[in-house]
Amino acid sequence: MKTPRVELRRRTTGIHDRDATVVFVHPEDLKKLDPGLARVVGAELTERIATFAAARAYKAGVGEAMYFPTHDSHLTILVGLGASKSYSLEFVRRASANALRLLERMRVASAVFVWPTRLPKRASQVELVSAASEGVLLGAYEFDKYQSSAKNKFSTGLVEFAVDKLSATTKKALQESMLICAAVNEARDMQNDNSDDVNPEHLAKQSKSLAAAHKLTYSVLSGKELSARGLNLLHAVGRASQWPPKLIVLEYWGASKKIAPIAMVGKGITFDTGGVNLKPSAGGQLHEMHLDMSGAAIVMAVLKLAAQLKLRVNLIGALAVAENVIDSNSYKPGSIIRAFNGKTVEVANTDAEGRLVLADAMSYLAATHKPSSIIDVATLTGSIMVTFGYHVAGLVSNNDTLARNLTNASQRTDERLWRLPLIDEYRAETHGKRSDLSNLGSNPRYGDAIVAGAFLEQFTAGIPWAHIDIAGTSMRPVRNYYNPAGGTGFGVRLLVDFLKNLPARKSR
Ligand code: BES
Ligand code: MN
Ligand code: ZN
Repeated sequence: MKTPRVELRRRTTGIHDRDATVVFVHPEDLKKLDPGLARVVGAELTERIATFAAARAYKAGVGEAMYFPTHDSHLTILVGLGASKSYSLEFVRRASANALRLLERMRVASAVFVWPTRLPKRASQVELVSAASEGVLLGAYEFDKYQSSAKNKFSTGLVEFAVDKLSATTKKALQESMLICAAVNEARDMQNDNSDDVNPEHLAKQSKSLAAAHKLTYSVLSGKELSARGLNLLHAVGRASQWPPKLIVLEYWGASKKIAPIAMVGKGITFDTGGVNLKPSAGGQLHEMHLDMSGAAIVMAVLKLAAQLKLRVNLIGALAVAENVIDSNSYKPGSIIRAFNGKTVEVANTDAEGRLVLADAMSYLAATHKPSSIIDVATLTGSIMVTFGYHVAGLVSNNDTLARNLTNASQRTDERLWRLPLIDEYRAETHGKRSDLSNLGSNPRYGDAIVAGAFLEQFTAGIPWAHIDIAGTSMRPVRNYYNPAGGTGFGVRLLVDFLKNLPARKSR
């Protein structure tokens, strides 16, 4: 997979000097073209667009794309933005992704994108450009590393955005967006690759080189070092693997050291067999369990971006890394294990391993780094997929402000979140019979996404905390606009937007 170069140029009259002109249109434009568009495409082409659209019953629905030859080999491509009254940045992302995919199908090497003058509701040109580049760069993604035919696949080399103002802020926004998309695509590559390659050792190596390249602090606890320090849950989950479990910690200090850092914790189960409570072959989604390190991949990407974008925040990223496999040394159902924070946990089911590794990672970070808030990202439960399918991630939080800030970021990025109720009844479900806690509620088929959240809350040391369950949104069966089949990188844009829009922090 190759992504095109994305560049800005000034919106001038008659831009037809590339191999195609992509004209983004609302249904309203088909009768009378927006004056901004009309100026760019010229009078003759304006005519032809109207005639063509009418002849083909073209409706300009979101992402709906059609083309006709303009002159010689030049193409005019119409891409729908949907009705202008519901015009949003998400429609720009979707339409841009479809545009790029059509360009590649049509073997168009270079193209200019032009939009109507009127911007999406409450959005600026800067945001339009960012959204469009997300559509193009995320939409171009394909995991074709193992496809022999990929060598011969055509890639569009250049996409130019025609804009009214070539301002420094627009240029900067495009640069940032390109960095963000590259990081999302890297996270997708890690999610999609084989678990034998993306194993705990590999995540440590990658984190170490990430740290070296971006001046992050790197530290790791591995295998017996975990149990020696009392991270017995993380150690137990990963101890049967040929690759020892790890707690990998990346630190980015972009603000005064007096300001307490934000901690982000990613679930990094490089493969989840379920353990002794082996997942069933039918319906257990075993072949997708290499994606169970998505949370860790997302956190790595956010740390990289914090450094690249020089965000004025302090950020600790912790990856709770293990492979949940079966061996004579496997941890067993019914065992009671003491967590890092002293609580005893019954392993009622070895397949509820995510909450165990996160529990130790969170309480360890709480003790060592005293963060102002903790956000964990995890492919934690099948229950969240039952609830929201592939479209929305679950949010469980003990803090309304943190939950609101995340929800706002979710609305801006369209990486959608929905908060679930953390009430005492769910907390009660986590109580153990022979231990303080159990990793399973009374009926794991009911409300497990929240029960899992209530379990994690026991390890937050009272710090404002939010849990994001990305089990459904991390892995897709089929493409949806700019989200490919397989790993989606869901969460990177959300968390970076959250960090960029944080209210000013008080010193500790
Ligand atoms: N990694 C899974 C959750 C998951 C399932 C992610 C399907 C993506 C797709 C997690 O470790 C798990 O196995 N959860 C169990 C919990 C149950 C035993 C309480 C589940 O959801 O079935
Ligand atoms: Mn599991
Ligand atoms: Zn898992």
